[in-house]
Amino acid sequence: MKKKVYIETYGCQMNFSDSEIVGSIMTNNDYEVTKIINEASLVFINTCSIRDNAEQRVSRRLKELRALKKKNPELKVGLLGCMAERLQDKIFEEEVVDLIVGPDAYRDLPNLLNAVDKGQKAANVILSEEETYDEIEPVRLDNNGISAFISIMRGCQNFCSYCVVPYTRGKERSRNPETIINEAKNLFEKGYREITLLGQNVNSYSWDGDESINFAILLEKVALINPLLRIRFATSHPKDISDELLHIVAKYDNICKSIHLPVQSGSSRILKLMNRKYTREWYMNRIEAIKRIIPGCAISTDIITGFCSETEEDHKETISLMEWVGYDYAFMFKYSERSNTLAAKKMKDDIPEEVKSRRLEEIIDLQRKLSLESNNNDIGKSFEILIDGTSKRSQLKLSGRNSQNKVVIIPKNENQLGDYITIKIKGCSSATLISE
Ligand code: 5AD
Ligand code: SF4
Repeated sequence: MKKKVYIETYGCQMNFSDSEIVGSIMTNNDYEVTKIINEASLVFINTCSIRDNAEQRVSRRLKELRALKKKNPELKVGLLGCMAERLQDKIFEEEVVDLIVGPDAYRDLPNLLNAVDKGQKAANVILSEEETYDEIEPVRLDNNGISAFISIMRGCQNFCSYCVVPYTRGKERSRNPETIINEAKNLFEKGYREITLLGQNVNSYSWDGDESINFAILLEKVALINPLLRIRFATSHPKDISDELLHIVAKYDNICKSIHLPVQSGSSRILKLMNRKYTREWYMNRIEAIKRIIPGCAISTDIITGFCSETEEDHKETISLMEWVGYDYAFMFKYSERSNTLAAKKMKDDIPEEVKSRRLEEIIDLQRKLSLESNNNDIGKSFEILIDGTSKRSQLKLSGRNSQNKVVIIPKNENQLGDYITIKIKGCSSATLISE
């Protein structure tokens, strides 16, 4: 009988995609992936370091695993991902951990597990300049059979001053486009209808083969696989989102009209300290380009509040920019200092916790209002939606997404997962649209 591994993922979509690569490596090496932790002989925690609270969540989880291991002393625990990379063998202070593996070392898992099986502790946190897990076909973990992630590049070398990612995921490298297209084709043939191309900064995708391929060209090639395959992508950096890319998005109906463009702050002074390499004006120019080239495109963002030296004036500039853009959706965070980053080394984390919290609340309240406004504007309009799940609230309802990535709740009727249907919106909340 095959041994069973349970994989739990924290953090971003990239990490989720990595867990699927890990799942694939494990299933090729005498394991099967289980969704029931109690039947596993091996537990992997794929971790995130982006903010202190992400790491604390993992620390609490490790304490729970200690209790599980008491009941089942044979159980082995592996810590994967960004925290493994950042903390390296300091993590062995948490006695429950048998194995630590950084984001570029997953091919070494079978080897490392041999050592663990002999009762040793094992680690590999070497970062690579080439690893893209090119030809590994991910095992789809959280499977609705409709939507899947495809990782197209790894790493990041933008060195935003607050960000730990360049240290945990290493240098930027792009994956061979042929393997990306094959993976997308295979998914389509298996019945998948939506893929999200993932990278820390997809706009700087670049491949030099017989032909030089940038992200706009890659996106077009993927869109041409089949008009019934929807394409999304994340994340774009404002400094290099080109008009060429926007024109490709506009040209193909199956490229979703939704762009995630993290602004982080509305103040040019703070953006400079963050080393974002663009100003408020540059960002506004890119938003104007999106609205001009792709009318009706949804725009979402990430915002950090309470970054080093942020004044009330800076905060107000963030608020006025949010209003000016009219974001459909936003992820908002309090600044959390990460050791070794440029900000940790050179700047003071000097905004008191209560000020960070108050500013965060203000922008969350504003975003709720903006999302509701945006959804209200959709009432009476018709959208094509792809059905991808059942409603969380009612078994009699299904949920889907429109091209703008908004969740739409529809009655079950004859509809099925994977169907495209066109519906009219009759109501909404700030989080969802409701159809007839
Ligand atoms: N503190 C708070 N938020 C952060 N992010 C990245 N680093 C930090 C940090 N140190 C946010 C950014 C990024 C998102 C993924 O997480 O907004 O876009
Ligand atoms: Fe993803 Fe960044 Fe968290 Fe790593 S630190 S898992 S790259 S969000």
